[in-house]
Amino acid sequence: MLKKTTVIGGNASEELAKKIAKKLKASFVKTQVRVFPDGESKITLSKIQKSQHVIVVQSTYPPVDTNLIQVLSLVSKSKQIASKVTVAIPYMGYARQDREFLPGEIVTMQVIAGLFKAVGVTNMIVVDIHSLIGLKHFKIKTKNVSAIPELASHFKKLKLKEPIVVSPDQGGKERARIFADNLGVDHIALTKKRDRKTGKVQIMNGKLSQVIGRDLIIVDDMISTGGSIIKAAQFLKKQSCKRVYVACTHALLMNDAERRIKKAGVTQIISTNTIPGSTSVVDVSNIIAKAIV
Ligand code: R5P
Repeated sequence: MLKKTTVIGGNASEELAKKIAKKLKASFVKTQVRVFPDGESKITLSKIQKSQHVIVVQSTYPPVDTNLIQVLSLVSKSKQIASKVTVAIPYMGYARQDREFLPGEIVTMQVIAGLFKAVGVTNMIVVDIHSLIGLKHFKIKTKNVSAIPELASHFKKLKLKEPIVVSPDQGGKERARIFADNLGVDHIALTKKRDRKTGKVQIMNGKLSQVIGRDLIIVDDMISTGGSIIKAAQFLKKQSCKRVYVACTHALLMNDAERRIKKAGVTQIISTNTIPGSTSVVDVSNIIAKAIV
């Protein structure tokens, strides 16, 4: 019998995919993966039936290339059993490589966009992609949904003292404004400088008297090494603020970043389940399910 909608959960996003399937009242199919010692993935989809619409869910967090090849393979197989294939990539790896910053740099986001088109994706959904510029490379229908209102709702439950929302850089100012509007509080944006060769960051601001004695929420799209958040937190602590919280959609938390961020004076990190982990308490299944048409 032809199924209406099937959700395939990639290994990296199985729990999230199950939640999305439940919300859509769709069948759920689990992926079996064996990664061989040489790094190749052996992917099996048993119990897969023909469907009108297949939705593949898989974030491409580390191991990025492995998770990427797995999701491309899942889409390719889905194309054989459904005419419509949507891919939901809650966290899109490589999204920061969306343009040529230094001469000769390859725009890998563009390469990935070509791969998704080649395997037959018809629609793609991402959550808080690093920049919408990344989506311009895709020649398929794409939608970016935001977890910022969900993250802000979580903070409504905390008893914070006269909170101010802080973006660690000017690029994230609009994100901080939306978060702050959801809480009905003010926002500010720091000025961050990153050395494009070494990746080192510096906060360029002078004194910030408006944060004295107040709780702060640093809002960012993602934490990778934690460098940006650590520098921002250390700077804000020096301004005699009260507690510093961090809210982000994607917490990669590479190389012991969680411990180092806490050491820099951060009380708590709150992230979403686009990347499952110790800080991912906010669920994005609802916003993804709503975006699927
Ligand atoms: C940069 O513009 C992004 O929004 C993040 O602030 C950055 O990618 C986080 O990386 P890291 O944690 O390594 O500083």
